[in-house]
Amino acid sequence: MKKYYTIYIYLKILLVVVIIQSLEILASNKRLCEFHEEHSDSDLVGCKSEDDEQHLICIGGLHGKWESGSKTVRKLVLCKWPERILDPEEVLLKFPAVKRFSVLASNITKLSKVFPAEVQNLESLFIQKIALSGTKLEYLPKGAFLNLSTLKSLDLRNNSLREIDPNEIEIATLKHIYLSGNRWKCSINNQWILNSRNGSVASRVIDRDKLVCSTPFDGRQLLSVVEIIVTLKEECQRTNCDCELVYIAVRSGAKFNSQKRLMVFNSVNCSNRGITEMPTFLPANTTTLHLSGNNIADLTPLITNPVYKGVIDIYLDNNLIESIACLEGSYWLDHFRVLSLRGNRLSDLPTYALENALLQNANAAYIRLGNNPWSCDCLFTPGFQDLLIRYTSLVKDVNDVKCSSVVQDKNSNKQIRDLTRTAICIPPDSEYGLQPLDIMNIVMASLIFFILGKLLYDCWFFKRTGQLPWIVAKIP
Ligand SMILES: *[C@@H]1O[C@H](CO)[C@@H](O)[C@H](O)[C@H]1NC(C)=O
Ligand SMILES: *[C@@H]1O[C@H](CO)[C@@H](O)[C@H](O)[C@H]1NC(C)=O
Ligand SMILES: *[C@@H]1O[C@H](CO)[C@@H](O)[C@H](O)[C@H]1NC(C)=O
Ligand SMILES: *[C@@H]1O[C@H](CO)[C@@H](O)[C@H](O)[C@H]1NC(C)=O
Ligand SMILES: *[C@@H]1O[C@H](CO)[C@@H](O)[C@H](O)[C@H]1NC(C)=O
Ligand SMILES: *[C@@H]1O[C@H](CO)[C@@H](O)[C@H](O)[C@H]1NC(C)=O
Repeated sequence: MKKYYTIYIYLKILLVVVIIQSLEILASNKRLCEFHEEHSDSDLVGCKSEDDEQHLICIGGLHGKWESGSKTVRKLVLCKWPERILDPEEVLLKFPAVKRFSVLASNITKLSKVFPAEVQNLESLFIQKIALSGTKLEYLPKGAFLNLSTLKSLDLRNNSLREIDPNEIEIATLKHIYLSGNRWKCSINNQWILNSRNGSVASRVIDRDKLVCSTPFDGRQLLSVVEIIVTLKEECQRTNCDCELVYIAVRSGAKFNSQKRLMVFNSVNCSNRGITEMPTFLPANTTTLHLSGNNIADLTPLITNPVYKGVIDIYLDNNLIESIACLEGSYWLDHFRVLSLRGNRLSDLPTYALENALLQNANAAYIRLGNNPWSCDCLFTPGFQDLLIRYTSLVKDVNDVKCSSVVQDKNSNKQIRDLTRTAICIPPDSEYGLQPLDIMNIVMASLIFFILGKLLYDCWFFKRTGQLPWIVAKIP
């Protein structure tokens, strides 16, 4: 019996220890939230105060006597706020003495009001620190913090913010701003972050270089991406075109965090602008160029102007191009990815050169040649047809690659890939009427029969009469 009693005492002591430890965990708001996350049996709700009720932590909303608020609380931490919407005014009305206010690990998506400068009974607020962290906040109401003339520190880490207007956090006293862990939209709208002048809002963002983009530049550093976008915008103004940053790849092996690590792919759209020549200037890192619907005839800039070296995708549909012979043997032809030449004036190609280039060019993915007046003759077409058949998967519009339309030509407007060799190489109308060669063949054949016949007749005549043929008698 005594033994059991001892065990009972031990168990009691153990229980007390566990309870004390739980209370210790409750002591720190950070540890508290973490503790709660680890043990997601979300029954743990309640409030706990410390330091003569100056410091209050509540989990899952306000509970017990705290529901009506308190004038002594200076530091208020709300974890796991139970609603999606938080009204700061309503909370601060109950706790007008608060200097540090935190909302952590909650599902709130919205603040229904801005932070007030004073509460109902004209008591001024003196809030110095605000933390809204680990919530689902996507945006802030306009002027959310602007009434807080004593705010020194603003922590907005680990929310779902996409962009922020710098004027919204331009408060003279505010020196420490934390913004990492959000879903930043890397666009020109966040250009303010680049302004690192002394005293600028951006210079007060302590974790400025830890800000990261969400889609479309997932995981890239906000600062680098916005800088690239701004440079592109400036350079684009020197063209008559629209420019867009389409993709940023990370070069493996390069030094971490250096700009060299990034490979930038810009797209420039100069379609339908009535230009007659290929642009002489393009923004750096232009890899895609749209030049469709212009009056361009000459492609030599592709090989002579170095800005085109990196332009691997080029769209030149509906221009006036008659020949691509100038690309023969060029660096460009060996490295391009997309070449779109629909609706031009091409009648032939340097077939051999193109085929040669395609053998070397592992990038080539997409060629369009349709709606051109291709010539169909025995000299050019057989080689061209071989090329089309060999690279059917590459020539995306092979069904539109047709012979030019020529009145009374039976190949007119036919798909080149499907033409038979005889249809290409026998001149028109050859099937009807006799050709000179045929006539000669017939004459020769008739002559052979005639001579054989004459020989047989002469043999027969000699046997019967013993007379030599007339022609033999005449030979001396
Ligand atoms: C937040 O939402 C998640 C999933 O929607 C849920 O599991 C969790 O309990 C919610 N937390 C609170 C404090 O409401
Ligand atoms: C916040 O300040 C604006 C003017 O700056 C004022 O119109 C507004 O009433 C203030 N809001 C509160 C809740 O104090
Ligand atoms: C934000 O989230 C990250 C990763 O989830 C975590 O490591 C970090 O401690 C969090 N920061 C804050 C201030 O909650
Ligand atoms: C920034 O300005 C403050 C005063 O406004 C000055 O004390 C500080 O030295 C300046 N810092 C730099 C890096 O210029
Ligand atoms: C071009 O790419 C480099 C990095 O590869 C980058 O530093 C530069 O800002 C980019 N320029 C433009 C206009 O995108
Ligand atoms: C290029 O710009 C024109 C308008 O100038 C537009 O119609 C066209 O869709 C754009 N093309 C691409 C690929 O963005």
